[in-house]
Amino acid sequence: MSKINIAVLVSGGGTNLQSIIDHIENGNIDGQIGVVISSKEDAYALKRAKKHGIEGVYIGKENFPDLNERNLKILQILEDKQIDLIVLAGYMSILDKNMVEKYKNRMMNIHPSLIPSFCGKGFYGKKVHEAVIEYGVKLTGATVHFVDEGTDTGPVIMQKSVEVKDADTAEDVAKRVLEVEHEILPLSVKLFAEGKLKVIGRRVTVENA
Ligand code: GRF
Repeated sequence: MSKINIAVLVSGGGTNLQSIIDHIENGNIDGQIGVVISSKEDAYALKRAKKHGIEGVYIGKENFPDLNERNLKILQILEDKQIDLIVLAGYMSILDKNMVEKYKNRMMNIHPSLIPSFCGKGFYGKKVHEAVIEYGVKLTGATVHFVDEGTDTGPVIMQKSVEVKDADTAEDVAKRVLEVEHEILPLSVKLFAEGKLKVIGRRVTVENA
């Protein structure tokens, strides 16, 4: 199989983007990042892309105020670059249904909880970890899933749990979860790149693992 071409969509610091870059550079992921698209002009993720010689593009509310036009522009870039896999790595904007349909089982997202807990509308960023502490669960974690038309509802690719300790703040939990995000996201991308992920209904299995 030839190297897959990946688009990473970001809005923030881009530590997950960095984890994918690192695994590509050390030869662990057989793929390349063709483009990084950010919904925020000042996202540190764009600087990370630049540092590694990856094209970074800002497509947000300022340069594309209309949501439809924003989505069309993103779609055009993905098509021009012949993207095989889209990775949503902390992407905080809304994507078009057509795009989700077009990239079915070829678009993955990382969510900082064990789906189906603490996910869906309103559960993003720090809010997820605050809800975890408020509820009093003893375990939380991260989930990589394929994106479908719902919010955090697509087939689960991989999950990893972490402990929630008594004295934890939301920041402590976020930090612990982020560490496992950086394990399971690149691993999911690697398996995808090797053609090993199989989706049957809601179930994702790993072939020859
Ligand atoms: C991560 O916690 C991810 O799960 C969530 O947004 C955060 C992005 O962090 N979707 P980073 O920009 O990759 O550092």
